[in-house]
Amino acid sequence: QIEKLWGGRFNEPTDAFVEGFTASVQFDQRLYHHDIQGSIAHATMLAKVGVLTEAERDAIIEGLNAIRQEIESGKFNWSVSLEDVHMNIEAALTAKIGITGKKLHTGRSRNDQVATDVRLYLRDEIDLIAAELTRLQQGLIALAAQEAATIMPGFTHLQTAQPVTFGHHLLAWNEMLQRDYERLMDTRKRVNFLPLGAAALAGTTYPIDRTLTAELLGFTQPTRNSLDSVSDRDFAIEFCSFSSLLLMHLSRMSEELVLWTSAQFDFIRLPDRFCTGSSIMPQKKNPDVPELVRGKTGRVYGHLMSLLTLMKSQPLAYNKDNQEDKEPLFDAIDTVKGCLRAFADMVPALEPKREVMREAARRGFATATDLADYLVRKGIAFRDAHEIVGQSVAYGVETGQDLADMTLEELQRFSQDIEEDIFDVLTLEGSVAARDHLGGTAPKQVQAAAERAQALLAER
Ligand code: ARG
Repeated sequence: QIEKLWGGRFNEPTDAFVEGFTASVQFDQRLYHHDIQGSIAHATMLAKVGVLTEAERDAIIEGLNAIRQEIESGKFNWSVSLEDVHMNIEAALTAKIGITGKKLHTGRSRNDQVATDVRLYLRDEIDLIAAELTRLQQGLIALAAQEAATIMPGFTHLQTAQPVTFGHHLLAWNEMLQRDYERLMDTRKRVNFLPLGAAALAGTTYPIDRTLTAELLGFTQPTRNSLDSVSDRDFAIEFCSFSSLLLMHLSRMSEELVLWTSAQFDFIRLPDRFCTGSSIMPQKKNPDVPELVRGKTGRVYGHLMSLLTLMKSQPLAYNKDNQEDKEPLFDAIDTVKGCLRAFADMVPALEPKREVMREAARRGFATATDLADYLVRKGIAFRDAHEIVGQSVAYGVETGQDLADMTLEELQRFSQDIEEDIFDVLTLEGSVAARDHLGGTAPKQVQAAAERAQALLAER
């Protein structure tokens, strides 16, 4: 029977089921590094203000460092009876250094301790995620610059609409990710506050120096209200909200990759190392990676909903409900990291099939709008031009030819204003080159946009 750190007022041992039911050590042990980091800062501050002696501080720090090593070498014995990561480490410290270990919790509660640990942990994970997101964007932008003049059909309603360049399409993906990055950095600002010092809920009677603790842990500043400090989980919700938007974007890219690698589109070859086969159909090569990313989006949305619902109607201040913040948050972090890694590895390896893309653009009357714009330049009202081109498309559908395949005489049946120069307009190259303005698909605009996107990355 392990003695509870809070056992003083209890007259019987905890029910065996309740012990497991209320414990969190099974999943919160991943906070060990940040728990120790927070405790070292707390002990350092307590010594600075005279609550601990320097010798006590040193013994605590030495003990905590030894415990960290035991955990990392797999020698630490986690106990469910000690409920969570905090009490497991505290009990181990006391076992190691004796009574001084029992002084570490002076002026602190697990309520402000856990809020601090989660923020420290999430801040480090955000930095890893930001680096991976940057790596993905780098790959995308490099591929976009390389494919700035590669023609493909642009779609609306998934029907061929107008020609665009593949580079332009990839830079559209990059814009989504750029916003996600900015949201992540904005979330980080609100993660980076120190709750420690709020103690259980009301603050503490010791002469603590929260600004010092904040500095030691690299937080911007201490939180401003002790009740809010121990009960706020907005930052975790914000992270899941960032994650949901990111996964929503990755799911859209995934969907396009799945379509494009199908035999029917055949725009892209995905190297074998990112695919798997079928146990029955020998010919199959399946785009599992994008499919799985698309599928994992659902669980991240679920975590966002879990956390919003967890916090709904919770009275101030700390409630045990909050222990339920960890599994959704941790799984959102793991999922985001996995999906970003898969995408960052995969994107530079995409092999566009330029001829197939070009041919697809050529087949779908993709330059019909260009013909209408040509007629407008010859003085015809846009609505009339639209009608004229509509009739020529109907003729093309009937005779099985694209606008550019028709002879001048055929085209002139629909409008006498059409002249020899029409063929410059009806080519795919002419069509994309004509969209020559900021944000347009002209290859030289795409090249410039890729350079600007690269410059934004360089500022990070
Ligand atoms: N394991 C707890 C959690 O994750 C730590 C804080 C517990 N505080 C308490 N008063 N029971 O929230």
